[in-house]
Amino acid sequence: MKRIGVITRDCAGVNAIIRSLVRTADTYNIEVLGVLKGYDGLIDGKFTRLNRRSVSGIINQGGTILKTARSKRFFIESEQKKAVQNIKKNNIDGLIVIGGDGSLRGAHVLASKYNVPVVGIPATIDNDVNGVELTIGADTAVNVGLDALDKIRDTATSLERIFVVEVMGRECGHIALQVALAGGCEEVLIPEKDFNIDMMCEEIKTGSSHGKASWIIIVAEGKAKGHDIANVITKKTGLETRVVVLGHIQRGGHPTSIDRIMAARLGNYAVNVLKDGVTDHCVILKDGKLVTIPLEVAVQPKKTDVNTYYKLIKILT
Ligand code: F6P
Repeated sequence: MKRIGVITRDCAGVNAIIRSLVRTADTYNIEVLGVLKGYDGLIDGKFTRLNRRSVSGIINQGGTILKTARSKRFFIESEQKKAVQNIKKNNIDGLIVIGGDGSLRGAHVLASKYNVPVVGIPATIDNDVNGVELTIGADTAVNVGLDALDKIRDTATSLERIFVVEVMGRECGHIALQVALAGGCEEVLIPEKDFNIDMMCEEIKTGSSHGKASWIIIVAEGKAKGHDIANVITKKTGLETRVVVLGHIQRGGHPTSIDRIMAARLGNYAVNVLKDGVTDHCVILKDGKLVTIPLEVAVQPKKTDVNTYYKLIKILT
């Protein structure tokens, strides 16, 4: 193997992965080509050479130095073929794909349909990759959310208000549950779970009549709009409610030590397994050990036990 390519989505820890795999590849005299702007860049043949020096000083940076895009074009077969031609034309012997379920689905297409040697590294704030305990970027996203929440709590307590905090998670409530539990919140609304807003308002009214003065309610964006929930609460309880939408700030920020260490280990391991002929798999940590799982498994919908966390949040309220 003489040359590998790397393609990325963005979340905290992705740059640390790029650094790890570029420097690992260098120890084997393998060149690394970075693909610019995700799958669109692969289709358009946009590459940049990466070396030991070009990845210095990025270990602590959020985002991706390669830039990225949500590529609609890669769903089209003729565009996929252009991407494969560019891989061949640029003598890329293997590809490392860093990202969430969409990126890994693309990786699986390249490996299974076009025979391109591909290894994936799960990296997304949503932690929704099947078979993976913790994706890179998820820990940072929760900590960014928690940092904001702690600040919101200061003012919520001082002014005795209800706050509805909307966090990211279109299809999954991972960030919402983690932030709610770690932040000591009263309620959490997630896409995976039915929710009775009337019951919540009754709980608030009862709590208020017993002297409870402030609430923090977390809403995953995929479940409801924070403003809609706040309007109903105010209408039904008569209590003052404020809304904070955390949005994309959770996808940025300096990666935590957990994300950087996973990035170092998985970036290194990905190069090693790709070099040794593994393809159509992604590298993950299972019980602290480095292993590979088929991409076909990783792209299946992830089933998460949300009830255990939810119950604990309610017990601790
Ligand atoms: O998949 C990661 C994620 O950040 C989700 O949590 C969120 O719903 C979505 O991406 C936002 O996508 P975009 O940046 O395209 O608006």
